[in-house]
Amino acid sequence: MKQTEKYSPLHAQSSHALALPLALRDFTMMLDADVELTRAGLAAEGGSEKRAYVRTVFEEIAPRYDLLNHLLSLNIDVIWRRRALRALAWSRTPTGTFLDLCAGTLDVGAELNRQPGFAGFIIGADFAVPMLRAGAGKAPPERLGPVGADAQLLPLRDSSVDGATVAFGIRNVASLDIALREVFRVLKPGARFVILEFTTPRSAVVRTFYHAYFHHVLPFIGGVISGHRSAYKYLPKSVAHFPAEPELARRMTAAGFLAVKWESLSFGIAAIHAGTKP
Ligand SMILES: C[S@@+](CC[C@H](N)C(=O)[O-])C[C@H]1O[C@@H](n2cnc3c(N)ncnc32)[C@H](O)[C@@H]1O
Repeated sequence: MKQTEKYSPLHAQSSHALALPLALRDFTMMLDADVELTRAGLAAEGGSEKRAYVRTVFEEIAPRYDLLNHLLSLNIDVIWRRRALRALAWSRTPTGTFLDLCAGTLDVGAELNRQPGFAGFIIGADFAVPMLRAGAGKAPPERLGPVGADAQLLPLRDSSVDGATVAFGIRNVASLDIALREVFRVLKPGARFVILEFTTPRSAVVRTFYHAYFHHVLPFIGGVISGHRSAYKYLPKSVAHFPAEPELARRMTAAGFLAVKWESLSFGIAAIHAGTKP
């Protein structure tokens, strides 16, 4: 009797009916994940999807960005941002207006505001508004103003800012050259533009550790905490596709910047480039 119940056609039919949609759903989820990873790969290469992909990703990871950023960088990013601000030479115009491009959760602006003697204003521009929102309150509104704007089309007048920065952002912009020209346009003559960005280390030993961390540890931890697996796969790929230091300096010069220099940070895993608008 029990056997009959257990293997009744009705039971068999219903478990089969349940199993099929489940299998299909798993398959669809796998496909979704693959499509997402493919989109991440294409975006990192700078394909036409890059702008939309990057914007959506940062909108989605915004609530977890700060936590992950400081955790995954072991807070070295804080030291790097301070070095970038030194290269900006903001103290030449301490009451000036500064632009922080791809401002994200406003860490660069907040750090600039903390510098002793700073009495100017920072425009924190980013096209992912949830990122700006997540950074709200890091500096008073009379010092730091978030603005939803695309780095390739800034809502600022020509020659209107005293200096500009971009930290870990320019790599994500769909067209590097358009963004460089746009920053050049809004800077006053004599003003500096400072880029802080990840780079691929030249030393084979450092590269081995870097590769293991960026391609395995970081996507795993980033994926688990943010719930966004593809975002943290995109990051190392986007670094790999970003121009190396001499090429970035050349592109800055081609956009009009003078006296372009760069310094490597932490065994070549990041670099600061600085140039001046003549
Ligand atoms: C890795 S986060 C860096 C945030 C911040 N600068 C920092 O130091 O933590 C990159 C930021 O660049 C922004 N971004 C990428 N492309 C952009 C574009 N074309 N215009 C404006 N923001 C952009 C993203 O929305 C994201 O907030």
